[in-house]
Amino acid sequence: MNQQLAVLETVLKHFYQSPSPEPQLVAGILYSIQAGGKRIRPLLLLDLLEGFGLKISQEHVKVAAALEMIHTGSLIHDDLPAMDDDDYRRGQLTNHKQFGEAAAILAGDSLFLDAFALLAQADLPATQLVELTQALSLASGTYGMVGGQSLDMRSEGQTLTIEELQRIHENKTGRLLHFPFLAAGVLLELDVESRELLDSLGKNLGLAFQVRDDILDVTASFQELGKTPNKDEIAQKATYPAIFGLEEARGILAELLDQIHQQITALEAKGFQGAVLKERIEGLAIGS
Ligand code: IPE
Ligand code: IPE
Ligand code: MG
Ligand code: MG
Ligand code: MG
Repeated sequence: MNQQLAVLETVLKHFYQSPSPEPQLVAGILYSIQAGGKRIRPLLLLDLLEGFGLKISQEHVKVAAALEMIHTGSLIHDDLPAMDDDDYRRGQLTNHKQFGEAAAILAGDSLFLDAFALLAQADLPATQLVELTQALSLASGTYGMVGGQSLDMRSEGQTLTIEELQRIHENKTGRLLHFPFLAAGVLLELDVESRELLDSLGKNLGLAFQVRDDILDVTASFQELGKTPNKDEIAQKATYPAIFGLEEARGILAELLDQIHQQITALEAKGFQGAVLKERIEGLAIGS
């Protein structure tokens, strides 16, 4: 898996080695891309492909890298003063603190758009590329991450129902974590039943990931997070600990992770080698 991570880094770096009309923009993009993100979204896709016995090529890694570009762009914009107003990300100053707001907005814009060029550069069957392009756009834009971010911003200081809170989380974070499960179905040309299992698993994982992020905002340190803790309460964000309390939020996370484990076991009955994915998911558990 370390080798795959190395290929992912190379693919990202290589994309930005082409001569650009604006090297300073590229420097700003690489500042955030190469800041030591955990890369969970691309790694999930590669785990899934390998678990189903596919020999991973650089072309698959391009799909995974495109997803990481969108995610990194979403973080740069999420941190802007007009949004969450954060000073640190991935253990270093946020992009706008380092380069200024205009540069950070543009770095995010570039990452959102560059992702689709990288995806289109993958030497994969055209039908797969069209499906993946649509799925990545839908997961990222109005019908996914950006839609969720808009709901998140409008919900500051509001009292939400559980359904409303869940809708925010499923979109702002869930959809980009769900994409690997959808993309695996496309790349592996899986049967409907397996795709439905992956779909449900990916949705649970997407929600679990943001519930975990909400809990860590309350319980973890700057060193552990690489970003400033306790920001959600100050901004009066709609979070699981705010609505359910910390202990119940922990219980919800544990239950989701348990369900995900069982869903991987169900996939194993269909020939999936689930050990690596199970280990990655276990890494998301938070000890009480
Ligand atoms: C943080 O995502 C933002 C959320 C969607 C919760 P990650 O925890 O995956 O952040 P990086 O990529 O490792 O920095
Ligand atoms: C982030 O949610 C969602 C996206 C970046 C799309 P948060 O605002 O909770 O993420 P952090 O805590 O700043 O990483
Ligand atoms: Mg936010
Ligand atoms: Mg934030
Ligand atoms: Mg957060």
